[in-house]
Amino acid sequence: MIIAPSVLTANLADLGDACQEAVDAGLNWLHLDVMDGNFVPNLTFGPPVLAKLRKALGDSPTFDAHLMITNAETSFQQYIDAGCDHISVHVEAVNDLHSCVNAIKTAGATAGVVINPNTPIDPVLDILSDIDLVLVMSVNPGFGGQSFIPTVESKIRQLRVAIDDQVAKGGNMVQIQIDGGVKSHNIAMLREWGVENCVVGSGLFNDKATVAENLAIIHEALE
Ligand code: DX5
Ligand code: ZN
Repeated sequence: MIIAPSVLTANLADLGDACQEAVDAGLNWLHLDVMDGNFVPNLTFGPPVLAKLRKALGDSPTFDAHLMITNAETSFQQYIDAGCDHISVHVEAVNDLHSCVNAIKTAGATAGVVINPNTPIDPVLDILSDIDLVLVMSVNPGFGGQSFIPTVESKIRQLRVAIDDQVAKGGNMVQIQIDGGVKSHNIAMLREWGVENCVVGSGLFNDKATVAENLAIIHEALE
């Protein structure tokens, strides 16, 4: 199970320090929530900040950009240029999903598609053979610290079956990632559903304990 820290609830005045704390705790896949104040009602950071972050953290951590923006089709290249290794785009925000994910891959990054809690999985099934990752939102995007929406279970289970079937037929592997409200109390259940990559924000970055301490509790839950 990959634990992908999301720094939204960390002290964003010290973004680099928050990411470094996660890396020092042993987390090498950083989930970076890019919001444009348009697709979602919140604003975070964009390519210039991510480029500085890449410089501060070095080459090692995987930068997973979750683009909650309306113009991902025309701007994804800026995120790759800033040092992002993986780009996920929302099916609700992109007109031509096929062209977009293929352009992302041609540009040298891995490509993922994201579905909101109320979005059906059909558009994902249509391009399963073209993507590296599917991100199922278990909260409505925009803010950290929201409650997990349990009705996403059937979508995860259907995706697990479809991906296993694709792989059994010699097709490509697609990683299932989940994002929103993931904590130590539900992470073992998510693994049982077939999730391989969990975004964890407030479960790691909170006032109760350090990232390392919170991560130890999550690891215990997965034992
Ligand atoms: C929501 C973001 C998530 C979120 C995760 O729009 O995509 O990555 O910040 O935070 P928690 O784990 O607190 O729900
Ligand atoms: Zn996210």
